[in-house]
Amino acid sequence: MITPLHEEIATRHGTPAFVYDLDAVRRAHADLVAALPRPSTVYYSVKANPHPQIIALLHALGCEAEVSSTGEIDAALGAGVPPEAVLLTGPAKTPETVAHALSRGVTRFSVDSPDDLARVDDLAGRAGVEARCALRVNADEPVPGAGLSMTGTSSQFGADLSWVLAETPRFTGFGHARVTGLHLYMGTNLTDEKDLLAQFEVGIGIAEKLAVLFPDLAEIDLGGGFGLPYARAGERPRFTGLAAALEALLDDRLPAWRDGAPRVSFESGRYLVGDCGVLLSRVVDVKDSKGTRYVLLDTGVHHLGGMSGLRRIPSISADVLTGDENEDASTDAGKDEAEDERVTVAGPLCTPLDVLARGARLPNTGIGDLVSVPNAGAYGPTAGLLAFLGHPAPAEAVVDGGRLESASRLHVTRNPL
Ligand SMILES: Cc1ncc(COP(=O)(O)O)c(C=O)c1O
Repeated sequence: MITPLHEEIATRHGTPAFVYDLDAVRRAHADLVAALPRPSTVYYSVKANPHPQIIALLHALGCEAEVSSTGEIDAALGAGVPPEAVLLTGPAKTPETVAHALSRGVTRFSVDSPDDLARVDDLAGRAGVEARCALRVNADEPVPGAGLSMTGTSSQFGADLSWVLAETPRFTGFGHARVTGLHLYMGTNLTDEKDLLAQFEVGIGIAEKLAVLFPDLAEIDLGGGFGLPYARAGERPRFTGLAAALEALLDDRLPAWRDGAPRVSFESGRYLVGDCGVLLSRVVDVKDSKGTRYVLLDTGVHHLGGMSGLRRIPSISADVLTGDENEDASTDAGKDEAEDERVTVAGPLCTPLDVLARGARLPNTGIGDLVSVPNAGAYGPTAGLLAFLGHPAPAEAVVDGGRLESASRLHVTRNPL
């Protein structure tokens, strides 16, 4: 949907431009909290969108921050999240990354192996602090469900449950790094409540088993993977039955969880910010080639779906909408339209992979027209290919209460070392 405010932003700050609506973030947060057991904590996964106003808002709403790089540590702290509310996760954390965290007061880590734990212990000891670590565990069996590819199979993430069970002393922590939690993130973009529940049930089962071996467990981070349409029209799902089902499971398996023993937490990126964002772009050229009409935009896979543009993850198929026919112009809608009205929407990169949509219906679209991609608030510019070909980063505008609050642009610069 292209609003008059979108038009104004595109005119004032140029295109391509991402517009993030903070009211939508508030609604998503309220819906997520309603879907989760009480009490529980939500981490905002900064990787989904590290815009400072988004991090600050989610922190004000009660989220802690899940980060996985020095840049994300600084983004969270810079947005006002206190170091004690920051959890550093991710495989292959270098000594520099861990030291950077510790130097800024961040002492909570997800650890993926005994060596990772030993590294944190060593650096925490040198810094004279105690680190609290959440051991990331990879389930032994695959969890059925789309998007659950990060667990239960051979993986670079975490330690296999069977390994933890076989060599528990190697995982139990050291003088300066205590294992006080479990990290059980299993997959991403799950839109079916059944899949979400299935993975949480596996996670709770692992926690029940390991609670006996790790008596200091103060937190079970059950992960998340709460999904919604990505760059496609459509509603963010509400998981209306999840909270009650999870509360029953937790009462059964971890009976003291309501008293915070352990506290239960979840992580979410895309669900919290996905539908706050729209990507605005202008048509630069329209032409026909061997029976296909191409609509060429000033944006492409370098700004949206960068990793999918390289076919590392399922390739992107965006809904590119005009101002007039926001819903009808999608690739799914209007299926009865003649094929020759369908167009391929491509971007400016010198690779045939730079295609945002095939078979899109963009009737009468001409050079200079404004188009939009919905549900583009997560994994936009910072998940893209910003340095490739040296195009400028898109503008990023934040609106709140129907007013433009800020506009900014990332820059990739080369600095002498
Ligand atoms: C450990 C971890 N936590 C959280 C997330 C955020 O996932 P999502 O944006 O789907 O909520 C990811 C994404 O890959 C992840 O790897």
